[in-house]
Amino acid sequence: MALRNIRREGDPVLKKKTVSVTRFTPPLHRLLEDMRETMLAADGIGLAAPQVGISKSIIVLRDEDKILEVINPQITSSAGEITALEGCLSVPGIYGEVPRYADVEVSGQDRWGENVEYTASGLLARVFQHEIDHLRGILFVERAVRILSPEEVKELTNKTE
Ligand code: CO
Repeated sequence: MALRNIRREGDPVLKKKTVSVTRFTPPLHRLLEDMRETMLAADGIGLAAPQVGISKSIIVLRDEDKILEVINPQITSSAGEITALEGCLSVPGIYGEVPRYADVEVSGQDRWGENVEYTASGLLARVFQHEIDHLRGILFVERAVRILSPEEVKELTNKTE
């Protein structure tokens, strides 16, 4: 396992649409292990493959004490809308208010190519949408209805420390 470099806004790989995964073989498993480790080391709650420079449809996310891996994820149903704060490991220090669906159903595959489905609400639903956006080359700052001012960010980080 190895930590991978997290790509920052401005890196063209973050703007590219990813390709589907068709081979569920050891190289994919190694990438997933690295993505898990990289996400945890950066204290993130989600990570998409383009963020480590790989233009493939792969995401990992934290669901409380579990880590989910979803290959070729698709939102199959959605409901409601809620606006809340988001940040991104690829856009450090920036936070914005982003409207998202409140509830989503996501289908995809696991690391062995077996079909998986998730029903998510709250933070997990938000993280799914944020990470799936990365696979389409979309960063949260493009969806934000308001970006926090540096003063607001300072207040926010003081509160969470
Ligand atoms: Co992100």
